[in-house]
Amino acid sequence: MSLALAEFAARLPKAELHVHIEGTLEPELMFALAQRNRVSIPFASVADLREAYSFTRLQDFLDIYYAGAEVLCTQQDFHDLASAYFDRAAADNVRHAEIFFDPQTHTDRGIAFEAVIEGLLSAMAQAQQRHGITSGLIMCFLRHLPEEAALATLTMAEPWYDRLLGVGLDSSEVGHPPEKFAEVFRRAGALGLKRVAHAGEEGPPTYVSQALDLLGIDRIDHGNRALEDDKLVARLVAEQITLTVCPLSNLKLCVVDEMADHPMRVMLNAGLRATVNSDDPAYFGGYINDNFAALAATGHYDREDFITLAKNSFSGSFLPPKAIAAHVNDLYLAVASL
Ligand code: HPA
Ligand code: ZN
Repeated sequence: MSLALAEFAARLPKAELHVHIEGTLEPELMFALAQRNRVSIPFASVADLREAYSFTRLQDFLDIYYAGAEVLCTQQDFHDLASAYFDRAAADNVRHAEIFFDPQTHTDRGIAFEAVIEGLLSAMAQAQQRHGITSGLIMCFLRHLPEEAALATLTMAEPWYDRLLGVGLDSSEVGHPPEKFAEVFRRAGALGLKRVAHAGEEGPPTYVSQALDLLGIDRIDHGNRALEDDKLVARLVAEQITLTVCPLSNLKLCVVDEMADHPMRVMLNAGLRATVNSDDPAYFGGYINDNFAALAATGHYDREDFITLAKNSFSGSFLPPKAIAAHVNDLYLAVASL
């Protein structure tokens, strides 16, 4: 009997390229850490918290996401957070993850940068041992804050430059165009760091063009609204720019009205190098395989589409070409066995 499409997708080896580690904080862990650190959170119970996860736009979510992050205080907390993500990702056949973290969310509360990054790094090493998952860290700048704050964060990270894969740009998009961060991205590029930016989630296609032209980005996070500009689409296809697309996030944040209308179908038809990712899985209703399942349920995709998406996740990663080739080979071996 042939496997259902969602189960087929679940079994494919894959990479995750767009996941905010703070967005993997499940309500149960949030409450446990609140108790452990004696931090109060404005929710009475796990059920209460889950009830609050009803958003109409990005900012609704960000307000709760930053409030939730306040329970993260010690190096052990960051380790536990990332460790829980890796266990979950391994169950979804994730073989490689490039993870965002938001140091300013923590350093602005007096948490040491060292506690944040060392906690994440120890969980990453453990995940490689336990699950064979490789991973890298992408340090994101909060775009609602001034560029000076991003520059100070880049300086703070100096002892760990060799432990960073790259830098990114996240938080409230509209009103905070990529051009605001041209200098910090120039410096990060000069350090040899990869560069990515959230663009075209809620912001206009010009933000996607700016990210390419002014920030020198290697990959676009989201990019949905690029579809409004045919010339830009042609450019993204020609330059083989990877888009890290997040279907359940788009649904939860009302970037799309219904999964059946998700632009992933148009993206694949256009030849864009799109990938599937979970963004903030604890808040948006699921991990990477739940995102594949949500697409599968629309009836608009077939096995070839999902093989393409899994392949794109490796070719769009920042792994060296040899490692990408090995992962793609494993993918085809897995497909042959399904
Ligand atoms: N968009 C912008 N900033 C974010 C997101 C997102 O989807 N998730 C966490 N920070
Ligand atoms: Zn994101």
